[in-house]
Amino acid sequence: MRIYQADNIKELNRKAANLISAQMILKPDSVLGLATGASPIGVYKQLIDWYRKGDLDFAGIRTVNLDEYKGLGPEDPQSYHYYMQEQLFSAVNLRQENTYLPDGTQEDERTACEDYDALIRQLGGIDLQLLGIGRNGHIGFNEPGEAFIRNTHCVRLSESTIQANARFFASREDVPEYAYTMGIGDILQAKRVVLIAFGEEKARACYEAFTGPITPQLPASILQLHPNVSLVADRAALSLFAQGEYTL
Ligand code: F6R
Repeated sequence: MRIYQADNIKELNRKAANLISAQMILKPDSVLGLATGASPIGVYKQLIDWYRKGDLDFAGIRTVNLDEYKGLGPEDPQSYHYYMQEQLFSAVNLRQENTYLPDGTQEDERTACEDYDALIRQLGGIDLQLLGIGRNGHIGFNEPGEAFIRNTHCVRLSESTIQANARFFASREDVPEYAYTMGIGDILQAKRVVLIAFGEEKARACYEAFTGPITPQLPASILQLHPNVSLVADRAALSLFAQGEYTL
């Protein structure tokens, strides 16, 4: 694992966007695994900026998102489909037909999940997976539990995740209880993983994920087994790591 420490959020966004840009330049038809939530917003803004300046081209890029709330359609402003349109897709020259998220409107869980895994396979796997991390160590919506779940699955969100995500909804009651998420196996098969984290509230999860035991109780800890993980984080999120414990 390589840790990139950023002094401020702007630098963090630039460092993470740099890793993504490098991937896009080296392989213009890359499959990018994307995340939603607060963490990647600035990274997407940076990528849009470079696209507008003519430095980045999304024409051949394919994207697959980690997750989607069950029951929300693309036109719902709280859906991750909507978020991706707003935060990235509509601002760059990505072809709409090359962007994929789990189908939140698919009632049949098995179909939704099997279709998504088949799609990832058809695309030839993910070249670079961008991740945020939950305060409880979740990645995608793989919540702490008894076992790592390999494939895309339907998950009941933990109370801590519902509380954390309530900030994006009118009230806690509006947060969907279920979501479709890529599984741990889907994430681990990505050739490269870039995890971004900022703020003190992520410090414990980051520290335990990379220095603690590998356990489904802290899903991000499985990333210790991945050969190519970069953690891009600010000082607050890295505050529990001792100096010298990581490479800058
Ligand atoms: C989002 C996702 C989640 C978030 C995590 C952190 O697609 O899969 O795992 O990355 O909940 O969320 P933020 O960035 O809002 O703190």
